[in-house]
Amino acid sequence: MQGKIIKVSGALVVADNMVGAKLFDVCLVSDKKLVGEIIEIHGSKASIEVYENTDGLKLGDVVENTQKPLSIKLGPGLIGNVLDGIGRSLKNIYESVGDRIKTGVDAQTLNEEKKWKFTPLKKLNDEVCEGQVLGSVLESQIITHKILVPQGVFGKITQIKRGEFNINDVVVKIKTKNQFVNVCLSSFWPIRIKRPIKKKIEVSQPITTGQRVIDTFFPLARGGVAAIPGPFGSGKTVVQHQLAKWCDADVVVYVGCGERGNEMTDVLNEFPTLIDPKTNRPLMEKTILVANTSDMPVAAREASIYTGITIAEYYRDMGYNVIVMADSTSRWAEALREMSGRLEEIPGEEGYPAYLGSRLASFYERAGNVLTLGGENASVSCVGAVSPQGGDLSEPVSQATLRIVKVFWGLSSSLAYKRHFPAIDWLISYSSYVPNLKGFYQNNLSYDFLERKNYVMKILQEEKELDDVVSLMGFDVLGDKDKTTLLIAQIIREDYLHQNAFDETDTFSSLKKQDKMLKCICEFAKLAYMAVESGKVYEQILSIPSRSLIGKMKYIKEDELEKIDTIISQISSDFLSLNSKEEEE
Ligand SMILES: Nc1ncnc2c1ncn2[C@@H]1O[C@H](COP(=O)(O)OP(=O)(O)OP(=O)(O)O)[C@@H](O)[C@H]1O
Ligand SMILES: [Mg+2]
Repeated sequence: MQGKIIKVSGALVVADNMVGAKLFDVCLVSDKKLVGEIIEIHGSKASIEVYENTDGLKLGDVVENTQKPLSIKLGPGLIGNVLDGIGRSLKNIYESVGDRIKTGVDAQTLNEEKKWKFTPLKKLNDEVCEGQVLGSVLESQIITHKILVPQGVFGKITQIKRGEFNINDVVVKIKTKNQFVNVCLSSFWPIRIKRPIKKKIEVSQPITTGQRVIDTFFPLARGGVAAIPGPFGSGKTVVQHQLAKWCDADVVVYVGCGERGNEMTDVLNEFPTLIDPKTNRPLMEKTILVANTSDMPVAAREASIYTGITIAEYYRDMGYNVIVMADSTSRWAEALREMSGRLEEIPGEEGYPAYLGSRLASFYERAGNVLTLGGENASVSCVGAVSPQGGDLSEPVSQATLRIVKVFWGLSSSLAYKRHFPAIDWLISYSSYVPNLKGFYQNNLSYDFLERKNYVMKILQEEKELDDVVSLMGFDVLGDKDKTTLLIAQIIREDYLHQNAFDETDTFSSLKKQDKMLKCICEFAKLAYMAVESGKVYEQILSIPSRSLIGKMKYIKEDELEKIDTIISQISSDFLSLNSKEEEE
């Protein structure tokens, strides 16, 4: 029995005669076969969220229920691909219909014809369990795509092939207790359901991003969740791009949801030209883009973040550390609000549906450091941009996000206005992962890295208090120690926290470089305070010649880091001669 359209309201279509329909079944609407998902059922009537432009639909058009949940085909060929919100490859669409996409295009996620070389890792008659690696395909020079025993399958291999296959060819046959299971290079997974794991494990390693303010002060852990809230133009997109380019995750999934089309164009133009610093290969060899920009159908935006995270989990299950970036979850929430409005649900705060929080959580909670079914330690980390109107964090999307995430990189419009980038406000940002990462820092950086970081942060907090005094009574009322504090704080802000994403060298600082730079600034601060204690005045501190060298540190190349040690010795000798000069006099 086929359904018939009885109402069309934007992306929402109501069909009657939908007996047996289940929530989240995928339907093909009208003879154009527009893809939609059932989001509400009343008797025989089903409300369907359609992921494509609904112009031209009319009452009485047929609706076919596929009886399946919205799923994505996972397999080799995802890497380097650009998908739309429901996982159709935009490359494939372009190849079949050109750049004027018609509605109802039936495009696959993966190239169905391409042959991949499958190398088995198991042998005939091997006993295998769910999640174990059966063999692999070299997907890109960086990523070895592992073909796993499907979930719930335990048995004996009765056939395993070697050679070149397309994604639908059967490469392994497994005999379980009561059936034969065919494994091919690809498989389907419903995007709204999280992929199973053995268990979650406490996070203990950072994701290094090369961004000093993030790595040193507000680090993200492997398997962690972070939000970047910030007003219009404060640098959310640039931070996400920086993370995608420089973070040390094995696989990057970048979801552009509801942002401007030209920003995604920047990504599409720029990413293929970038080189991954870890492997020296093109960045696209470890990246997957999901694009659902503001000029694309709004409903698919809702699905896009689940498409992104499902792909991330899929690579995690192979043992990789994956990061997912969503820009922006506010635009995503607006899509949710629009659909809720059309369903005439009772609106919650600011018109958002009451389930906003739980939907957001169902995205972020899929992050984590885990033991995979195959027994490997792997992770999915999530970073979501939030764009609250006017930067007001009391609005529902920001609030719901803050309740979930453990890292908060709060962007400030006043810093952005002063061109202090990244405009991450150190006074409001936080990371709850620092205690988990302590062991990592102790094993990999100077033993007092954390102490230095706290020392520097304290100076920045003092600066804030002193700024209040200065704005009331002027700089001259301050004593030499406070004036010195302001000088050191300025050094920290300008020479450490400020980082130009568009400078070839400054765009990325390794942890080792950050450690040395921090040491240098702390050395200066310590010696300056000691000099003031012993009776020197602020002007003398100001006249230390090596002070200007501190500002040059960020432009020192990664293979010349010993130059920072030279600056540190220069600072020591300058202070030494300051003291001895005085003694002579
Ligand atoms: N780290 C950085 N280094 C240098 N410039 C930066 C940096 N971050 C942001 N900018 C500048 O700020 C501009 C705006 O940044 P961006 O587009 O990321 O803001 P946004 O918060 O995403 O804005 P929107 O709300 O419009 O999406 C950039 O075009 C760039 O000129
Ligand atoms: Mg942006």
